[in-house]
Amino acid sequence: NPLVLADNYGRRFEYLRLSLTDVCNFRCSYCLPDGYRKAKGVPTNLSVDEIRRLVSAFGTLGLWKVRLTGGEPTLRREFLEIAAAVAGIEGVGKVAITTNGYRLAERAQSYADAGISAINISMDSLKPDRFRAITGHDRLSEILRGIDACRQAGITSVKLNSVLLKGLNEDELDDFIAFVVEQDLTLRFIEVMRTNDNPEYFAAHHLPGAFVTNRLELLGWQRLERPAGAGPAIEYANALGPGRIGIIAPYSKDFCASCNRLRVSATGKLHLCLFGDAGIDLRPLLQQDGQIDELVQRLQQLVATKAPAHLLHQGNSGSTPHLASIGG
Ligand code: GTP
Ligand code: 5AD
Ligand code: SF4
Repeated sequence: NPLVLADNYGRRFEYLRLSLTDVCNFRCSYCLPDGYRKAKGVPTNLSVDEIRRLVSAFGTLGLWKVRLTGGEPTLRREFLEIAAAVAGIEGVGKVAITTNGYRLAERAQSYADAGISAINISMDSLKPDRFRAITGHDRLSEILRGIDACRQAGITSVKLNSVLLKGLNEDELDDFIAFVVEQDLTLRFIEVMRTNDNPEYFAAHHLPGAFVTNRLELLGWQRLERPAGAGPAIEYANALGPGRIGIIAPYSKDFCASCNRLRVSATGKLHLCLFGDAGIDLRPLLQQDGQIDELVQRLQQLVATKAPAHLLHQGNSGSTPHLASIGG
């Protein structure tokens, strides 16, 4: 009987989102509009050894996929070393990253060589000026080159993330759809989420996921069945080409019912949800290889206490200041 991670609502967890750093070099207007600022008294980030122990324990519990997040994960000096270590852990079948695309064109091959097989890239506009206005950086063309570089490097899954914002880029919906239809890519539209730092921004710019799904259905896109364990995104395809469109609509009913993921922050706190808990410090159990059994048991106990759904429906983001703080 293999060990598994499951909760009291029938959900299985085989997917870990591990943040490597909360530092980011971009200034996305919904996330870190004033840029990253180091908080005082924060512990150091997990070391490569601590990460190896952590992921090994999850591996024992049936964990199959690890997504390295941030902040911007590639800013960690040991980034490639960490990716390769995680890829080598027993049970881990897939190492993915979520990146803002910084230097992606020149680095894609090194990511693939380290064992990364899936990359999600933020891309909130197809217009260079607007891209700069939203992220604080004039790097759209670098991302477009980066997508090609990922393909050439043999990275099989490339997804683009676009946060669709009222009054800022909502008029690009059709351009985005046209951009992706003929490409072997998934574009995901993400509903902006309210965090503790962005309530006014959220009120001004939030667009419901239905804004996208209504348009897609009008244009003849078809909603796909999602396999069990696929997670909360909704997906659409179209007979005109291979491009896929995903929608992450956390404010929709039942979004959390298909939750398949757990999170660990850069300093080793387990977050059972993106919103809600302050995190449970796992670091004391990451100090020696001999602690793994204890860690495995603790993870099983903790996951059993996961709440059925996030707090956003109540207009509450718990203790989450912005998504860079715990890896989105
Ligand atoms: P895969 O399904 O692994 O490809 O990834 P993903 O789309 O979940 O990951 P990615 O890091 O690209 O995240 C895209 C957006 O989805 C980010 O804004 C995340 O914060 C958001 N997101 C991912 N998981 C969850 C979740 O469990 N709850 C909520 N509310 N948002 C999530
Ligand atoms: N709401 C929705 N998406 C967000 N992201 C960051 N902060 C928010 C937020 N408040 C997205 C980024 C990136 C992904 C990792 O998280 O655009 O694509
Ligand atoms: Fe950085 Fe990602 Fe936040 Fe943008 S959304 S500021 S890229 S952590």
